[in-house]
Amino acid sequence: EDLEKLQARPPVVTIMGHVDHGKTTLLDAIRETKVAQGEAGGITQHIGAYHVDLPHEDGIQQVVFLDTPGHEAFTAMRARGTRVTDIAILVVAADDGVRPQTLEAISHARAAEVPIIVAINKIDKEGAQLDRVRQELSEHNLVPEDWGGETVMVPVSALKGENLDTLLEMVLLVAEVEDLQANPDRPAKGTVIEAHLDKAKGPVASLLVQNGTLRVGDVLVAGSVFGKVRAMVDDRGARVETASPSFAVEVLGMSEVPAAGEEFEVFVDEKEARSQAGQRTDQQRHTRLQQAMASRRV
Ligand code: GTP
Ligand code: NA
Ligand code: MG
Repeated sequence: EDLEKLQARPPVVTIMGHVDHGKTTLLDAIRETKVAQGEAGGITQHIGAYHVDLPHEDGIQQVVFLDTPGHEAFTAMRARGTRVTDIAILVVAADDGVRPQTLEAISHARAAEVPIIVAINKIDKEGAQLDRVRQELSEHNLVPEDWGGETVMVPVSALKGENLDTLLEMVLLVAEVEDLQANPDRPAKGTVIEAHLDKAKGPVASLLVQNGTLRVGDVLVAGSVFGKVRAMVDDRGARVETASPSFAVEVLGMSEVPAAGEEFEVFVDEKEARSQAGQRTDQQRHTRLQQAMASRRV
């Protein structure tokens, strides 16, 4: 890696927490959108990636937020969300406190070794009990700074937009300490956050670029799936030609639907990419065959 070419990149911030504690509403408030209201059953069922420009002392600081589902069925998605993140925002509803997926989120963030910022949400509600939440979190070794611990905890109301400035200031502060860098001048590498088959468009993959720059026309391999980027769309649905480090885009042109969580890599040489993808398919076939044989022996 050419160290001289490293440049600052935006932080990737994953929002996690128990179901209905207000993750999507928080992002809506930050983005001034209304995604939560449109969700089926009010339940988030996928990872959403959103770019936000935050005002900062020297102009604008870009941040990429990942929204994750809190419903217990989506453990794998939450694990994926933290694996690609730089910072986790743990949302805990002040009227509900620490719940099973709160604890799950804490353990994912710890496994990924990312800093946790706690947003104690719904402070506008009657039943809000801030100190109870602080106490419960302390029992899981997240001790608030004002109690002598090290965890930043910000009381907020996503619904009323209260105290979000403080939360975002904390995000930028933590991001600054992390000193996040990447080299935009190399072929892109990153992770498939999600992928699905669209009847009209074919395979659609949400890719988070972690290093380098992804371009329309690039040839890439994700797991054992070959692709040639036909078009890219950003989080607002706009066509883009490039995606730089920390940005997430929807990519058309994969030959099949890659597995979520798979790493992807751009190849300069198309032939090499095709042979890499083919080799990986062979390897997978071999592994599956071995597994099948092993299970027969049992
Ligand atoms: P999942 O993604 O399904 O886990 O839920 P979520 O954590 O994204 O929660 P969501 O944003 O869907 O909000 C759940 C409910 O809580 C909605 O009815 C919101 O309007 C409400 N809510 C969220 N934040 C606040 C808040 O600060 N105050 C109050 N009073 N209600 C809130
Ligand atoms: Na919800
Ligand atoms: Mg949600």
